[in-house]
Amino acid sequence: MNTRIFKIDPNNIDEAAQEALRECAMVIKEGGLVCMPTETVYGLGANAYDKQAVANIFKAKGRPSDNPLIVHISDYDMLELIVQEDFLQNGIMTTLADRFWPGPLTMIAPKTSIIPDCVSGGLNTVGVRLPRHPIARALIKASGVPIAAPSANLSGKPSPTCFEHVREDMMGRVDIIIDGGDSDVGVESTVLDITGNPLNILRPGAVTLDDVNSVIQGAMEQDWHLAHGIDTSEVPKSPGLKYKHYAPLAPLYIFDADNCEKMVDAINKKIILEKNKKLSVGVLATDENRSYYRGADIVQSVGRRDNSMEHAANLFTSLRRFDEAGVDVIYAEMLPQTGVGDAVMNRLYRAAAGRIIKCE
Ligand code: TXA
Ligand code: MG
Repeated sequence: MNTRIFKIDPNNIDEAAQEALRECAMVIKEGGLVCMPTETVYGLGANAYDKQAVANIFKAKGRPSDNPLIVHISDYDMLELIVQEDFLQNGIMTTLADRFWPGPLTMIAPKTSIIPDCVSGGLNTVGVRLPRHPIARALIKASGVPIAAPSANLSGKPSPTCFEHVREDMMGRVDIIIDGGDSDVGVESTVLDITGNPLNILRPGAVTLDDVNSVIQGAMEQDWHLAHGIDTSEVPKSPGLKYKHYAPLAPLYIFDADNCEKMVDAINKKIILEKNKKLSVGVLATDENRSYYRGADIVQSVGRRDNSMEHAANLFTSLRRFDEAGVDVIYAEMLPQTGVGDAVMNRLYRAAAGRIIKCE
């Protein structure tokens, strides 16, 4: 497939950009695939009403078809078409939407029949998000239909947070890739199941448990802290959780310590051991510590230690670099878990698949 690339400045959607977006919208309406930037990660979008187009999303990504897609909308009129009216009337969804939309929150709600079963992986619910990114919103609006979009990575790779990642994974597999620069959040949206009581956070993101509880009391977080790996014996609430999540090609170990000095020491001791075995080592570090890992082959900093937003923005790019560099092993600093840091550590725990080293 011949993939066209449209470069659009999200901060300046001028006449030329609007023309480009109209062309992208045509492709969506005709059943094609368009990769679009959102504030979390890039999405691989198609008309959510079009079964064939949705089937092509799964094909392009290499994704199992029972893992449902998030449907992206540009306004509340679209919400009324895809979520059941009596559910909307209880007010929970609109209360949360008024506070967090447009933004990085996906809500799971009972769907109407206009959303084909292939979008929801056979479930009677749909995940809905109104993104904040100006290009995503303009594209949905111009298309006039909701856009179903998973993250625009090949299955098994980290979510793409910039155009280059999408090009690497999707060139030749989609009709259009929109280059809209870097995603500012960098981790995928919070997925919140609002169909039950309590509300249940299925995937942590930039909208935190505390944020949700500040609007509606009693939300809970699925206990992923305990899970660390993925327990396939349980039926997961979110189908996506049962699949092996992205992990780098090399085994990744998280170093957990009560202070940075111990952590840096422990990582350096391990580096010496690995270097004696002639293995190549990558370290996922923070700015304050990065210069201490002299023996490592590649050191990737995710930003200043106290800045979880920087960690979120840089995490997936850093992980892709280790794969590119072909390191044999990756050592990662434990990061603070405040704010979006909770979501960052959730992704890192999954990448580590249970490999956690407690530094004494
Ligand atoms: O930030 C994001 O959420 C990005 C951008 C493109 O919006 N999208 C994204 O989509 O991360 P995806 O498909 O990679 O992850 C969606 C997650 C999956 O874990 C899926 O199982 C879950 O949301 N999900 C979607 N619909 C669901 C539903 N009806 N019930 C339970 N979980 C659902
Ligand atoms: Mg994904």
